[in-house]
Amino acid sequence: MQVTFSITRYSTQQHTYIQQYKLQMQPGQTVLDGLLAIKAEQDGTLAFRKNCRNTICGSCAMSINGRSTLACKENIHHEVSRFGRNEITIAPLGNLPVVRDLIVDMQPFWDDLEAVDPYVSTQGRTVPEREFLQTPEQRSQLEQMGNCILCGACYSECNAKAVNPDFVGPHALAKAQRLVGDNRDSQTADRLKQYGEDLSGVWGCTRCYQCNNVCPMGVEPMEQISKLKQSILDKAKPQDSHQASRPVRHRKALVELVKSGGWIDERQFGVQVVGNYFRDLKGLLSLAPLGLRMLARGKFPLSFEPSEGTEEVRNLITAVQEKKATSTSA
Ligand code: SF4
Ligand code: SF4
Ligand code: FES
Repeated sequence: MQVTFSITRYSTQQHTYIQQYKLQMQPGQTVLDGLLAIKAEQDGTLAFRKNCRNTICGSCAMSINGRSTLACKENIHHEVSRFGRNEITIAPLGNLPVVRDLIVDMQPFWDDLEAVDPYVSTQGRTVPEREFLQTPEQRSQLEQMGNCILCGACYSECNAKAVNPDFVGPHALAKAQRLVGDNRDSQTADRLKQYGEDLSGVWGCTRCYQCNNVCPMGVEPMEQISKLKQSILDKAKPQDSHQASRPVRHRKALVELVKSGGWIDERQFGVQVVGNYFRDLKGLLSLAPLGLRMLARGKFPLSFEPSEGTEEVRNLITAVQEKKATSTSA
């Protein structure tokens, strides 16, 4: 079948334009096969990254038909069937500076990973007399996060990263959970404190699910972020009131807002959590730059519509809260 590849290209002067290439492709071939054929037969100047060609190295991540994925994973038949047309659009990853064509500068991605101290501390990093052994059960706790191939697809789609440069990103927080879940690591308490401190860590995530949607390895970064949040909340002291602890306030505001509107009214969420219900002026002021960036990128929700089925959601939450209250008092 004939397929048109519409590729966003960047010249060295950062001039952007779309270039189209027509190719004869087999349905079972991959998008990467198409790019390689273009480079070999039509245009040797087209720049993109690839290595393993087998969804292992993560280097061929790019935006294909509007979502970030691996070019060596997606096949032609699937891509043309998605929109029912023999055209595939390809662009570089988002949230990263473009170097040329489909090649992005990954340095911010690595810097954000480094920020979570992505190494097992192994008991103060002393040299053991023998290996730090783990049981198969302990090892299996790390499998899902360990499958990350650091491709950058989640980072490219992350809505929080798009407006908050301080947020370390889904890949880094999935790694953070991998370390918190590792029984050999001796810095769990420090890690949880660091990951829960400000909007650079878990509380910066807007729970948009995009990272889960695009991750080609099933790492589900948002699930890992939720586990980190739970560990942080478990560590919060019972006497922490919503005024004293931002993590506790975060959970409380989240439940209250979902109960009231079926989903979260993001306009109120920041004010309640970071601004402590208008009590924390410093916190409120710290939200201003983020709010302005969101406005500039069209990501600030100007209005709020309760979700369909709000009543059902509310009843469910009430039932769970009542059950919890009964089991606590028993
Ligand atoms: S769920 Fe959170 S970490 Fe994942 S893409 Fe959305 S904002 Fe980013
Ligand atoms: S979490 Fe998934 S999408 Fe993100 S870098 Fe790792 S493998 Fe890629
Ligand atoms: S070339 Fe290695 S993941 Fe695609």
